[in-house]
Amino acid sequence: MQHLLSTADLTRDDALLILDTAAELAQISDRPMKKLPTLRGRTVVNLFYEDSTRTRISFEAAAKRLSADVINFSAKGSSVSKGESLKDTALTLQAMGADAVVIRHAASGAPHRLAHSGWIESTVINAGDGTHEHPTQALLDAYTLRKHLRDGDGDLAGARITIVGDVLHSRVARSNVLLLNTLGAHVTLCAPPTLLPVGVEEWPCAVSYALDQAIADADAVMMLRVQLERMNASFFPSAHEYSRRYGLDAQRMSTLPTHTIVMHPGPMNRGMEIAADVADSKRSVIVEQVSNGVSVRMAVMYLLLGGAESGIGGN
Ligand code: NCD
Repeated sequence: MQHLLSTADLTRDDALLILDTAAELAQISDRPMKKLPTLRGRTVVNLFYEDSTRTRISFEAAAKRLSADVINFSAKGSSVSKGESLKDTALTLQAMGADAVVIRHAASGAPHRLAHSGWIESTVINAGDGTHEHPTQALLDAYTLRKHLRDGDGDLAGARITIVGDVLHSRVARSNVLLLNTLGAHVTLCAPPTLLPVGVEEWPCAVSYALDQAIADADAVMMLRVQLERMNASFFPSAHEYSRRYGLDAQRMSTLPTHTIVMHPGPMNRGMEIAADVADSKRSVIVEQVSNGVSVRMAVMYLLLGGAESGIGGN
């Protein structure tokens, strides 16, 4: 496999290879000297057309720990604000010899366009495209789940994961549903009907409108951010009403089984989809998700850029 565009492209073996490789690479992050020479001389470009804190920093840290040269491009302050097209930006990156392009874009499908246009020869990694997919987020979530629910081993067969909130605008939800299904988990999506996408009944998961029922026997509850910036209409009566019905507060958390973990991809709207004391509680693995993201992105770049004998895609 040359690119990572969607979790739908990953077989169970591909996903497990990435998670196992990430677990090995995680040990490097615990050392005082956090670097491997694997990608020395290779250039990774972070091409971010949308705002990002953790994903961009995480890709940058991951590439640097593998000794790659990293170029950070953000659309704000670049020629994109002068109207330059994705094609011309891509040709520029090609001319500069980028080996991998990590792209985040507001348009769903932009990474596919970049990968299959013939404009560049680089490996393309999707770091979030519109409301479509965010495969490395799903991989870091799977890594975190496997660590907590399966002692870091094997797949997630039989694990019960409930994903709650603004599924409609969430690329994290789609990537997670596809990957978790591939890994054998049972996923339930819980949201108000207005925040579920058309066709969700075709997704490989259950759908619920009732939060208390949907989390009652979950092994993990993943809260999604209410993406106000993507909302052009009123999707729920008020923030108060939303958090009363779909927010995770301390009272609701106390009804969860004792082993259940709480996740959130960040950035959080504290007080809306998740109460501050829940986000900071012992059950919350939200900060750990961020550290796991670096190891998972190291694994993805290592495998795609040929640092390993056997890459993703079984070759
Ligand atoms: C998510 C994203 O950008 O899709 N954040 C992230 O990458 N950690 C989720 C979000 O913005 O709510």
